[in-house]
Amino acid sequence: MRIVLFGPPGAGKGTQANLLAERKSLAHISTGMLLRAAMKAGTQLGRKAGEYVNSGRLVPDTIVRSLAEEAISDDIEGFVLDGYPRTVQQAEWLTSFLGERSAPLQAIICIKIREEVIISRLSKRRVHRKTGDNYHLDFRPPPPNVDASALVQRPDDRPEAIKKRLSEYHRATEPVISYYEEDEAFFSVDGEGDVKDVRRRIDDVLERALAAASSRP
Ligand code: AP5
Repeated sequence: MRIVLFGPPGAGKGTQANLLAERKSLAHISTGMLLRAAMKAGTQLGRKAGEYVNSGRLVPDTIVRSLAEEAISDDIEGFVLDGYPRTVQQAEWLTSFLGERSAPLQAIICIKIREEVIISRLSKRRVHRKTGDNYHLDFRPPPPNVDASALVQRPDDRPEAIKKRLSEYHRATEPVISYYEEDEAFFSVDGEGDVKDVRRRIDDVLERALAAASSRP
C-alpha cells in the first residue's frame, strides 16, 4: 500500500502517519524527519538543509528529491509519505519515479485544518531531544516517566518560523492539491478534533481508496 499524507504544517501528518504505519505495517517516510536526522548528524546536506528548515523555508527540491527517492526505493511496496511532495515539481518527480517502477499511489489524503488550530498545535508542540517523540502541552502531554527537561521546542515552531512555513505552504504546496485533485486516489479529511477521530476518518477514506484501486483495470 502506497499512501501520501498531505497538508499544512501542524495538520497532524506526522501523528497520523505514525499511527497508520504501525497498524498497516508500512514504512513511515517523513522528509522532515530525514532532514532533521541529517542536520543532527552534521552532514554537508544537513548543514545546508538546516539554513532552510530552521527559518521555516522549504529546502530546495533537488536536495529533498534525493532523500525521498532513496527512502522510497527501500520500501517501494508499502509506505506512508509524510511531507513529500511539497511542490508541484516534487509531485511530478514522484509520479514519474513511481510510474517507472509500476508502483502507483493508492491513496493521496489531504488533511484540512484551520490556521488558528495550526498555530495552537505548533506553538505548544514539544519534542523529546533524544527519541524525537512529539507531544502537545494540552492535547498530548508527555507521560509522567518522561523527563520534562528533555523536551524542547523545534526552532521552526517559533512564531516567526511558523508564519514563514504557512506562507511557504500557501505559495508552493497548496498548488499540489490542484495537481492531484482529479486523481481517483485523492481524498480530503477534516483534521480537526481528537487524534482518534481523525484516525477514524483516515481509515474510512482508505477503505474507499482501496476499493477504488481494486476496481481499476
Ligand atoms: P516537517 O517536519 O514535515 O514539518 P511540517 O510539514 O511543517 O509538519 P509538522 O511536523 O510541523 O506538522 P504535522 O502535520 O506533521 O503535524 P504533527 O503530527 O507533528 O518539515 C519541516 C521542514 O522541513 C519544512 O518546513 C521544510 O523546511 C523542510 N521540508 C520537509 N519536507 C520538505 C519537502 N518535501 N520539500 C522541501 N522542504 C521540506 O502535529 C503537530 C502538533 O499537533 C503535535 O504537537 C501533535 O501532538 C499535535 N496534534 C496532532 N494531531 C492532533 C489532534 N488531532 N489534536 C490535537 N493535537 C494534535
